[in-house]
Amino acid sequence: MKSENTGGTILREKREATAGFDPEAIMADFPILTRKIGSNKLVYLDNAATTQKPTSVIEALNSYYRVMNANVHRGLHTLAEESTAAFEEARRKTALFIGGVKSEELIITRNATESINIVAASWGRKNIRRGDRIVLTEMEHHANLVPWIALSKETGAELAYIPIDSQGVLDLENIDSIITDNTKIVSLTQMSNVLGTINPVEEIGRIAHAAGAVFLVDGAQSAPHMPVNVKAMDADFYVFSAHKMLGPTGIGFLYGRENILNSMEPFLYGGEMIREVRYDYADWNILPWKFEAGTPNIAGAIGFSPALDYLNSLGMESIRDHEKKLTAYAIERLSEIKGIMIYGPKDIESRGGAVSFTHGEIHPHDLATFLDSRGIAIRAGHHCAQPLVKKLGLNATARASFYIYNTNSDIDDLAAGLAEAWRYFGHG
Ligand SMILES: Cc1ncc(COP(=O)(O)O)c(C=O)c1O
Repeated sequence: MKSENTGGTILREKREATAGFDPEAIMADFPILTRKIGSNKLVYLDNAATTQKPTSVIEALNSYYRVMNANVHRGLHTLAEESTAAFEEARRKTALFIGGVKSEELIITRNATESINIVAASWGRKNIRRGDRIVLTEMEHHANLVPWIALSKETGAELAYIPIDSQGVLDLENIDSIITDNTKIVSLTQMSNVLGTINPVEEIGRIAHAAGAVFLVDGAQSAPHMPVNVKAMDADFYVFSAHKMLGPTGIGFLYGRENILNSMEPFLYGGEMIREVRYDYADWNILPWKFEAGTPNIAGAIGFSPALDYLNSLGMESIRDHEKKLTAYAIERLSEIKGIMIYGPKDIESRGGAVSFTHGEIHPHDLATFLDSRGIAIRAGHHCAQPLVKKLGLNATARASFYIYNTNSDIDDLAAGLAEAWRYFGHG
């Protein structure tokens, strides 16, 4: 880390000079959005699954491999110093983005899923026993469900769930009987990928801490779409993935409170995560590298830097405002279509831009396939939240989800496509 950062400044694009929020101008920064699906322009409404990448991110990845490629933290040559500096600059920038946490507290992982697995394995195995309780909610993604089910199987700890009401909002009425004195961890999503619901994480965090529990927030759907301050929500752990916020795939983050991370055993063992190794002995590196065994996704981290620049140049408040408008418009337009049922809160303040819906007569998979034939990309299925979708009395929903480059015109295309689907499937 002797040299100045270069990766963070690789091709920081014209967006920094562009004030204001103009989806049309933004669209021009995303090469894939000029693509055609058959003869139709692409209307990309699957942003909760992954977002598209701006030119600056694509160029940073390209440029890294062209001019800087070297392993990090090990070399004494120029390329290694540059790539190490750029990699660590991406970490610093990300730490700032989630509320100014210390770089030592931010572990670079593959994705949100891996981040939760690190907590369940390294913290969970050490701290959770038979008779303890793990509290989740009924709206969790499998990423924040299956690691805890596995831990419960292994340890005999019980699982308890904060229920949802008919609007898809957490029902906190009996929270004191759910977050009990034997609760060791409360782990929940800040925003549901199915219902769009934004959860009151500050309030639940206070209750969790009052019960002596550790508090994990899954930010996979919130970090990309709203201002996030991990300190304000007093989370002990916070996880998210770069690919859902303009960044490359294969890179994610685990924020952990320093004293808790220090008390945990490593998750993976090998190079990079050690301080000293002898034939019969090894001890561990300091944070954050103690949890980063092996060669990390260097290009991914360096490619994420301009993604954060891009989001920062727009401002997370502006992004949230833009998506609120889009979501309100989508709910209005979809509500006009016969047979469509929309899930999750209708109140725009308490939800984000993942809008799940079903059609009384047309299966979600048929809807998605039909819309694809019109160039419109939505998601259909259980969205990796099988228990939640089952709780809604369904096997699948269709889901449209929005991001910075979407416009009302995309929603008009979606509404027109759904009306056409109604006619196509013989109801016209
Ligand atoms: C709420 C939520 N949590 C966790 C994840 C897992 O993210 P990843 O697949 O990037 O690990 C997702 C992905 O859709 C999600 O929506």
